[in-house]
Amino acid sequence: MKLEALPSIKGKYNLESYEETAASFDWKEAEKNFSWHETGKVNMAYEAIDRHAESDKKNKVALYYRDAERNEKYTFKEMKELTNKAANVLKSHGDVEKGDRVFIFMPRSPELYFALLGALKIGAIVGPLFEAFMEGAVRDRLEDSEAKVIITTPDLLERIPVNELPHLKHVFLIGKNIEENGKNIDFLKHFEMADRSFSVEWLERDDGLILHYTSGSTGKPKGVLHVQNAMLQHYQTAKWVLDLQDNDVYWCTADPGWVTGTSYGIFGPWLTGTSSVIVGGRFSPEAWYKTIQDYNVTVWYSAPTAFRMLMGAGDELVKQYDLSSLRHVLSVGEPLNPEVIRWGMKVFGHRIHDTWWMTETGGQMICNYPSLEIRPGSMGKPFPGVEAAIVDDQGNELPANRMGNLALKKGWPSMMQTIWNNEQKYESYFMPNDWYVSGDSAYKDEDGYYWFQGRIDDVIMTSGERVGPFEVESKLVEHPAVAEAGVIGKPDPVRGEIIKAFIALREGYEQSDELKEAIRQHVKKGLAAHAAPREIEFRDKLPKTRSGKIMRRVLKAWELDLPTGDLSTMED
Ligand code: WTA
Repeated sequence: MKLEALPSIKGKYNLESYEETAASFDWKEAEKNFSWHETGKVNMAYEAIDRHAESDKKNKVALYYRDAERNEKYTFKEMKELTNKAANVLKSHGDVEKGDRVFIFMPRSPELYFALLGALKIGAIVGPLFEAFMEGAVRDRLEDSEAKVIITTPDLLERIPVNELPHLKHVFLIGKNIEENGKNIDFLKHFEMADRSFSVEWLERDDGLILHYTSGSTGKPKGVLHVQNAMLQHYQTAKWVLDLQDNDVYWCTADPGWVTGTSYGIFGPWLTGTSSVIVGGRFSPEAWYKTIQDYNVTVWYSAPTAFRMLMGAGDELVKQYDLSSLRHVLSVGEPLNPEVIRWGMKVFGHRIHDTWWMTETGGQMICNYPSLEIRPGSMGKPFPGVEAAIVDDQGNELPANRMGNLALKKGWPSMMQTIWNNEQKYESYFMPNDWYVSGDSAYKDEDGYYWFQGRIDDVIMTSGERVGPFEVESKLVEHPAVAEAGVIGKPDPVRGEIIKAFIALREGYEQSDELKEAIRQHVKKGLAAHAAPREIEFRDKLPKTRSGKIMRRVLKAWELDLPTGDLSTMED
């Protein structure tokens, strides 16, 4: 469904003229917004929290937190003290030092944010883990990063194979009645008594900040390392894309286990000194609308699957809430259907601004801006200071309207610094001429708008979460009944894609619905609920290359009733 372009809307925006700014902007200008412009020494937590706590923003609310049981708010001054306390606990009871990997594995709560920022104050590298991860996923990440400390809850403790991780020295538990022993430490007990002052560790711009594990089409999840310098991008995009202004109340719906939940759930909003709402618990349309209403949310950053689920909950529901505070709505993570944009116009009276980026880019890259026309279905235009292009497989730029690799010129501030322990993987992202290749295909129209076409590899985006088929296949073949497994993303009207597994059973196993369910549970318990296949289809044999690799391309063609293409590498 093609929609007419949506004209820009008159207003007072941080970015007044996209074209003019894009033509002249230099990242050096952004540096002037930071204290390290003078000192040369940086610390993300200082810039995001302490700097405001020492300014006239000190009594401004930094964090509004709400879940089924809690409803709290903290000013920047309070956040400074609470994150200092957390830093003191981690330092004195966990021996955390600069560069150590500190993992955080727990549901959203204010303590998660205190602990994360506290770890940053010490100069540690933070590794956030989504709470749904099960033992296998947790183990892979802690092992690869050689994490020294993990902060978690008693409920999640059983998913951490503590005794099999030699580098893991301390487990901080946030909960009631914690029994302390050699490894386990009661976080809240020490937090209660900790000192409110702390001197932050001053770092270099290329010192580590955060390690996000993400999936590719092959191999285990990889640790994408971002450095302190990324704050330039977080800050400037929060200004120009999120358009955060002094009186805004901002809500990013993403969990900090994913990059959106840190870059734009923590760093962007607080670097700009914005009041931020964080909601714990699960998605529910009622709770979401109520959040916007009760906190007078003005800027809202969410994802296509969530918008589609809200759309599914019906227009009548929207009318029961007062959403008039909203002024700017944004989306990320998957293609944003023009249909959803049309619905957003109807029920919220606002354009939904699509933004494109990925874990590796650390920050927004191609975006729609409040002061620019939106072409529904297009991700928008490159952020000022970011050079994007469509290139062929040799790294040559393609002209307008030709589909190819969506690439970015190396050197934007939030670009990943490396893949943890895997320099080779890191190198593999680049083509000649310093093009970083995203793995997405797209084209650019004659006016410079980018249009997403799909993933080039087999990475699955389900409900906006990135899942590697290899990880799921590896877990599937661990099940005693499974001989072979091939996993694909199957298009789904609500979730973007769902995970579908094709399975060949071992001799002696009968196909049945019970077995499907048992296999699904096996992935759910071993990896994560969101990685478990929603659909399973048994086949006698799976298509493989002569070297034994499952041909997912053929599985996908079967599923979609498409031609299977070149089968010359397939075994008989
Ligand atoms: C996809 C999430 C279409 C894309 C921040 C990318 C999108 C992958 C969009 C990265 C968008 C992200 N339109 N597709 N606006 N934004 N994607 O690392 O395939 O979890 O490569 O980062 O999500 O997913 P990741």
